[in-house]
Amino acid sequence: MPFLDDLFSLAGRTALVTGGSSGIGRGIATALAGAGAAVVLVARGREALDATAAELRASGARCAVVVGDLSTRSGVHEVAESAVEPFGEPDVVVSSAGVNLRPPLAEVDEAVWDTTMAVNLEAPFLLGQRFGPGMAERGYGRLIHVSSQQAHRAFATSGVYGVSKGALESLARSQAEAWSPRGVTANTLVPGFVPTPLNERLSSDPGRVAALADRTLVGRNSVPADFAGAAVFLASPSAGYVTGQSIHVDGGFSVH
Ligand SMILES: NC(=O)c1ccc[n+]([C@@H]2O[C@H](COP(=O)([O-])OP(=O)(O)OC[C@H]3O[C@@H](n4cnc5c(N)ncnc54)[C@H](OP(=O)(O)O)[C@@H]3O)[C@@H](O)[C@H]2O)c1
Repeated sequence: MPFLDDLFSLAGRTALVTGGSSGIGRGIATALAGAGAAVVLVARGREALDATAAELRASGARCAVVVGDLSTRSGVHEVAESAVEPFGEPDVVVSSAGVNLRPPLAEVDEAVWDTTMAVNLEAPFLLGQRFGPGMAERGYGRLIHVSSQQAHRAFATSGVYGVSKGALESLARSQAEAWSPRGVTANTLVPGFVPTPLNERLSSDPGRVAALADRTLVGRNSVPADFAGAAVFLASPSAGYVTGQSIHVDGGFSVH
């Protein structure tokens, strides 16, 4: 359908998805590939990367993987350079890799602070510095971050995690200010509760899972496929006038 293709097709585009081997990142990578993008998946664990890539290729997508650790600056730089090898410079960068270290604030030590800030905030910043200017030169780019309810309110020992996600949404606004005039948008997706390996501590407790579902308006917790439409939209030509925004895909969790 030419009308929908003009709005949403990612044919000919390349997307880099950190955390693309699991959970929300995997859901987003699958959606971007389905819309026609060549996708590069980044994570530490090769097995899950290869399994995801095999699934995407089986559905006809072009997909490559980069094994790398985003918790150090040198790791991010190495990932960025490896990621351009298969399909060239990315048009879309999705930062979904994240850590969820949530001891009570009084027990947060400097190692927890450093790791949380490195993966959740510094890696998206460094990837933006690496790829944003080139996107601006080419006149098209999409930076998409994955934030959290804790960016907006403290609950469930928000701790440093909430700090990192609040700053991540500010980063998107700064990136939007810097590069939107030259075709590069920066936005944040804000999930509700999605049972994934990241939050096994909560998702393995049926009572807490049910309580979280009750807090939504839709009446259920989320699944990675809930992000497909919003991610394709934000990555697509149709979202060129949407920038600096935090878009809640949370079943209404945040509005009451
Ligand atoms: N699930 C939720 O309810 C929820 C709610 C709000 C926000 N979020 C956010 O959504 C994002 C994705 O979370 P998820 O629930 O989808 O988690 P997930 O299923 O555990 O996936 C996390 C991904 O990040 C990768 N990763 C973690 N640390 C990394 C590192 N140092 N270097 C490279 N890759 C790394 C993981 O692969 P490896 O372990 O193999 O490296 C995996 O691919 C996170 O930013 C999280 O904060 C999740």
